[in-house]
Amino acid sequence: MSRAADIRPTTLAGLLRAGVSILSEGGIQNAENEAVWIMDFALGTSRLTLRLEGQRQVTAEDRGRAMELFGRRAAREPLQFILGTQEFCGLEFEVGPAALIPRPETELLVEEVLRHCLAVPHPIIADIGTGSGCVAVALAHALPSASLYATDLSPAAMALARSNAARHGVETRVVFLTGNLLGPLRRRGLEGRVAAVVSNPPYIPEDEVADLPPEVGSFEPKLALAGGVDGLAIHRRLLSEAAEFLTPGGLLALEVGLGQADRLRRMATAGGGYGRIRTKPDAAGIERVVCFLRSVE
Ligand SMILES: C[S@@+](CC[C@H](N)C(=O)[O-])C[C@H]1O[C@@H](n2cnc3c(N)ncnc32)[C@H](O)[C@@H]1O
Repeated sequence: MSRAADIRPTTLAGLLRAGVSILSEGGIQNAENEAVWIMDFALGTSRLTLRLEGQRQVTAEDRGRAMELFGRRAAREPLQFILGTQEFCGLEFEVGPAALIPRPETELLVEEVLRHCLAVPHPIIADIGTGSGCVAVALAHALPSASLYATDLSPAAMALARSNAARHGVETRVVFLTGNLLGPLRRRGLEGRVAAVVSNPPYIPEDEVADLPPEVGSFEPKLALAGGVDGLAIHRRLLSEAAEFLTPGGLLALEVGLGQADRLRRMATAGGGYGRIRTKPDAAGIERVVCFLRSVE
């Protein structure tokens, strides 16, 4: 237990100072801002209140609540799990240990699918490995005429995704199915009718999972992270399974990690079934999304 965690601050300013110390001792880089955000969440304060009313007394209950959250963050629990939400594509998503926290680079996937589907009347879209539901829900929200199918192996992730769909009023247009990749889509008459299959599959090579920052490796589900020996195990299966469901000219859009886009492109070229292939870089210049168009035969 750190020394900062043992002190009993009696004012807002003292509590903030204790929070910054606890987080810094835990190795949190952005300790100052995160302590403010945790106090906002725990006590309903704002940065301005903390500045202007720093000498305001805090109750033992408020102090206990904030100190507990500072402790969790110092143990490297992701800030988003503590605050309970993450913004994605302009929408607020509930997050938790059942699913990956939505990442900003995944917005590129949504963008690519939107670009493709805006020209398709009443598109059917499948989101494979939906996790928190962020991709499916953002697409359903942006495309009022679309029908979505979202699958995940994890029943706990499914429950979270359903709750996020309800939160954004799209639950009647997203069918959530627990199961393996595109398997749950079979026997639903969807073969050859899907305008876009989209997925952000797990893509960390198995032997790199242990090197992830503690926030990721110790708190986010391994099922959402590990992508087999080379990180592309699920991508490989999606390349071969998605074609059957896509319309001619339909889009398969997959997120990849650093240095994986080229390998995936080569796999698709060798396997056939897809015509045009292109990649999209993220803000850091990493080829992050690979788009395949189903061949028109
Ligand atoms: C990287 S996370 C992506 C979650 C969400 N789509 C996002 O972008 O934030 C991958 C998801 O795929 C799911 N998953 C892993 N293997 C799967 C499989 N074989 N079939 C279905 N879902 C799978 C995991 O449970 C996890 O929710």
